[in-house]
Amino acid sequence: MNVDGKHYRTVWLEGRELALINQPLLPHRFEIVRMPSYRETAAAITTMITRGAGAIGATGALGMVQAVLEAPERGFHDFIADAATTMRATRPTAQNLFYGINQVLRAVESCGDDIGAAREAARHAGQEVADDDAACCEAIGQHGLAVVPDGARVSTHCNAGWLAFVDWGSALSPIYAAHRAGRKVHVWVDETRPRSQGARLTAWELGQEGVSHAVIADNAAGHMMRTGQVDLVIVGSDRIAINGDVANKIGTYTSALAAKANGIPFYVAAPTTTIDPDCDHGDDIPIEVRDHDEVRWTWGWSDEGRFMRVRTTPDGSPGHNPAFDVTPAELVAGIITERGIVPASRAGLEPVARR
Ligand code: MRU
Repeated sequence: MNVDGKHYRTVWLEGRELALINQPLLPHRFEIVRMPSYRETAAAITTMITRGAGAIGATGALGMVQAVLEAPERGFHDFIADAATTMRATRPTAQNLFYGINQVLRAVESCGDDIGAAREAARHAGQEVADDDAACCEAIGQHGLAVVPDGARVSTHCNAGWLAFVDWGSALSPIYAAHRAGRKVHVWVDETRPRSQGARLTAWELGQEGVSHAVIADNAAGHMMRTGQVDLVIVGSDRIAINGDVANKIGTYTSALAAKANGIPFYVAAPTTTIDPDCDHGDDIPIEVRDHDEVRWTWGWSDEGRFMRVRTTPDGSPGHNPAFDVTPAELVAGIITERGIVPASRAGLEPVARR
């Protein structure tokens, strides 16, 4: 990823501390925060200091490495089991989180009662989860190049760029690859209420990379498609059921329906770590419901340079805040993975799914 011309990752381990990009401050301020222990790391996932499927997968894995390094010799395995329970409870929908945690647990278990070896194996496994995420996303960019021709006008929803992964991103990776290959690409960025990941994060990322883009209100997406201003849609995913149903940020389903109605290909880009081999159907994917105040209030930067929260609803009106939705497989043109573009079906996904 490219921040003012400098290469960063979203998350990395420095000794026992975990370093993260503080995403709620973007695009107004770029700041790195450090989490001294696995408990703070878990809280950073819940409060969305870090967010996005791949980023929380790597953060969960590296948070587990912190727990393994913190665990006392007496009660070593119980401490780690408690930490895994805490880490799993941070957010329910993204499959990458559970994959990342399990990779570290497996490495520890393979060492039996050799605590020194377990600490070393955990460190290695956590780093491997992060490196693998970055490599998969880079490969997604190369495979996705095939669907982003010169002059393409692409619609995207939420943020599935480098901030949502360790590097490169999923949905934005083919766009970055096309841009770097000299193709002209324009991106319509859905604002993505209530937390505005599109307006705040995707727009900022695309600006850092010099990619042409404009932010549109979520409810403008159908109009843009019907009036011939969109050639294709690429979104990310938080969990893909083995039948090809796809969970992604709330609003994705609406975009997929509009794309279908207008004959526009709707692609999903995701590393194979997002596929849940044990989930048969999209209806089985746990959908996170977050605090209704995320709908009732919004955050922004005032002209006077103050970061502030303002309420946009009547004081007495409650909100309701499902954070994800499920797009049925039949609306998906293909899933762009690090192994190539595969059909959104059991036949397409089973051969590439990971445990
Ligand atoms: O709630 P978030 O910001 O963690 O949402 C997850 C996402 O970033 C999106 O749903 C994204 O499109 C999936 S790919 C990381």
